[in-house]
Amino acid sequence: MNNQFGHSLRMTIFGASHDSHIGILIEGLPAGIPLPAELFTADIDRRRPQLRGETTRHESDTLHIEGLDNNDTSTGAPIRITFQNSNTRSTDYTHLVEHPRPSHADLVQRRKYGEEYNIAGGGMASGRMTVALVAAGVVAKQVIPEVAFTSELISVGGNSDSATFDATIAEAARMGDSVGGVVECRATGIPHSLGEPFFDSVESIIAHLIFSIPAVKGIEFGDGFRGCAKRGSERNDSIIDAAGHTATNNEGGINGGITNGNDIVLRVAIKPTPSIALEQRTYNFREAAISALTIGGRHDACIARRAAVVVEAMVAFALADLKLRA
Ligand SMILES: Cc1cc2nc3c(=O)[nH]c(=O)nc-3n(C[C@H](O)[C@H](O)[C@H](O)COP(=O)(O)O)c2cc1C
Repeated sequence: MNNQFGHSLRMTIFGASHDSHIGILIEGLPAGIPLPAELFTADIDRRRPQLRGETTRHESDTLHIEGLDNNDTSTGAPIRITFQNSNTRSTDYTHLVEHPRPSHADLVQRRKYGEEYNIAGGGMASGRMTVALVAAGVVAKQVIPEVAFTSELISVGGNSDSATFDATIAEAARMGDSVGGVVECRATGIPHSLGEPFFDSVESIIAHLIFSIPAVKGIEFGDGFRGCAKRGSERNDSIIDAAGHTATNNEGGINGGITNGNDIVLRVAIKPTPSIALEQRTYNFREAAISALTIGGRHDACIARRAAVVVEAMVAFALADLKLRA
């Protein structure tokens, strides 16, 4: 199993939803970067469940960092960040061994990793793992302090009026159902010339990391799918100065796999949470028949709001790795 990503800056994710701990090992980090625990608080809080319709599994998300010097600063050695899992209720998942959840990873994980594989909480295929990705993003942001990020939910359940988001999520939760959403991430202050033409194009590396986030179903850069309906004459980004700034940014800041110095803009499609309270009819392996499944556990009615900071973290990691390669 490959749990590692990165070329010059590398991360290795470990643990599973109901293991005692989960975490991330980061290698290739330059010396001299201060990483006090408080630095992580804001981003970790952005991922926490807060609203009605979000999971009632509350973890303290207190992180433990190893590998820093006495001033909490990197030395060039690997660092390891761990989070304890304490609020687990594994019995909620026992029946899913024989009656796997539709659109979740219970069946595929047990078929691939064996009957002893622990699917409690979703195993490795759990939103819980993304707290480790957020921590990696905080570290990555220190490698690229010149880059600023804004990431927001731009649609929920197909509706882009932000005034409706909370009510739509709460209503889905009340119905025992779930909704999907789209997250937009914008990174400004991007140095030009990151990335390469082929397999290490900036889009390839960002997309690879974005698809490591559970529940992601799509990504587009710049004007993405919408832009393909336009004429070149309407869409091309005119260069307006010697720095390579453009009048429009339909390319989302990347040409030929290489950053052009304009903002990187991308949107990520996040599916409705697969675990819903509503009864579903799906195959039961013990009965060898399709039967009614009721899922227990504590689930988000909408993953997308909590996932915005995870998307941002993965973009930051991609850019930090690319910068350190240069
Ligand atoms: C922040 C976050 C929270 C999530 N919360 C839940 C949840 O409460 N219940 C659930 O069934 N899936 C949740 N997921 C999604 C599952 O982890 C995901 O659908 C599953 O791993 C299968 O992977 P796939 O959807 O990419 O195929 C969450 C994902 C993220 C990123």
